[in-house]
Amino acid sequence: MRIGTPLSPSATKVMLLGSGELGKEVIIALQRLGVEVIAVDRYANAPGHQVAHRAHVINMADAKALRQLVEQERPDLIVPEIEAIATDELANIEAQELATVIPTARAAQLTMNREGIRRMAAEELDLPTSRYAFAESLEQLTQAIDDGIGYPCIVKPVMSSSGKGQSTINGPDDIQSAWDYAMSGGRVQKTRIIVEQKIDFDYEITLLTVRALDAAGEVETHFCEPIGHIQVKGDYVESWQPQPMSPAALQRAREIAGAVTGNLGGMGLFGVELFIKGDQVWFSEVSPRPHDTGMVTMITQMQNEFELHARAVLGLPVSTALRNPGASAVIYGAMDEKGIAFENVDEALRVPNTEIRLFGKPEAFTRRRMGVALAYANDTDAARRNAKLAADKVTPVAR
Ligand SMILES: Nc1ncnc2c1ncn2[C@@H]1O[C@H](COP(=O)(O)OP(=O)(O)OP(=O)(O)O)[C@@H](O)[C@H]1O
Ligand SMILES: [Mg+2]
Repeated sequence: MRIGTPLSPSATKVMLLGSGELGKEVIIALQRLGVEVIAVDRYANAPGHQVAHRAHVINMADAKALRQLVEQERPDLIVPEIEAIATDELANIEAQELATVIPTARAAQLTMNREGIRRMAAEELDLPTSRYAFAESLEQLTQAIDDGIGYPCIVKPVMSSSGKGQSTINGPDDIQSAWDYAMSGGRVQKTRIIVEQKIDFDYEITLLTVRALDAAGEVETHFCEPIGHIQVKGDYVESWQPQPMSPAALQRAREIAGAVTGNLGGMGLFGVELFIKGDQVWFSEVSPRPHDTGMVTMITQMQNEFELHARAVLGLPVSTALRNPGASAVIYGAMDEKGIAFENVDEALRVPNTEIRLFGKPEAFTRRRMGVALAYANDTDAARRNAKLAADKVTPVAR
């Protein structure tokens, strides 16, 4: 494995498709390894744009625009950071060996649509998931619930993320509003939805799973300590590591994560989302890239999830060792405003053993994630308290 000199003919070039807060950290990790990084997003001055060698603004769902940029930049690796990409064009690029797509173009295709990854996990790999069905009309949705999904259940547009268009149906009276909400929250106009049985889990985890080369050049699968998290309306607000698990549940979680990531293939880090009740484990979904709940690893692991991704995609060795327990808590915009400021960062950092990351997003929305507070401690309860305390102290203000 060799790495060239950035901005010279020998450069090792990586293109990030999506340059939000997660992409920004991947870019920083790549920069530290002397990689030339090209950051792409749909808007100017995205977090990752601010730390890359070059920045581009394009609609990544536009196959032609994507193709043109790849031909112009000629990256060695393309690293998708978001789901809303022209993934069929990525498949062409991969087939023509124009660039290597991380982890694989097929993984990007399967995970951009909930139907692809769910059918792969449940029907191809026979892994446990919630009961599910797909629907394209209110009638089909009602029928699916009556035919066996039952109540309570959850409706999600098949093409959506961060809880957009997602709601719970507790009884027949909720069906219409859940359908209407899903129609308003999908990424594409004609919305297909998945309806899932609501799993009554004890807790949910993200199992960060890394496929990286070993000394013999073979792909080896590594697991990080499980990350526990709390979601509000499908969006993560708090995470911690390690989440205690029974040995049986942990083993099952690793089997499931190993099977899903093994099927998706390629190299890199994956965020495998799992629901746990006692020793029982259900597969929920997977990101073939760093996961938002995994930001906690910036304070808990020897190599955080972004460094792990950077190393794995470059063919370098990885270590998933935990350094200390820790937690993360999200800092929200709290207003709809451009160019906001953050007060009391000093107060926040006076909370013991904390760090703050401000992402540098040009525009705030009330529930937009603008930063994260991190804390480490001897146990995750103490870390969660301090991360929360620090996040609460940071005060967004209009300029
Ligand atoms: N079948 C289910 N049973 C119980 N809870 C569920 C189910 N599906 C989703 N949830 C809850 O909603 C959260 C978000 O769901 P999911 O991960 O499918 O959506 P998402 O929009 O992709 O969210 P994100 O992008 O933040 O991962 C889950 O983490 C879980 O807390
Ligand atoms: Mg999720």
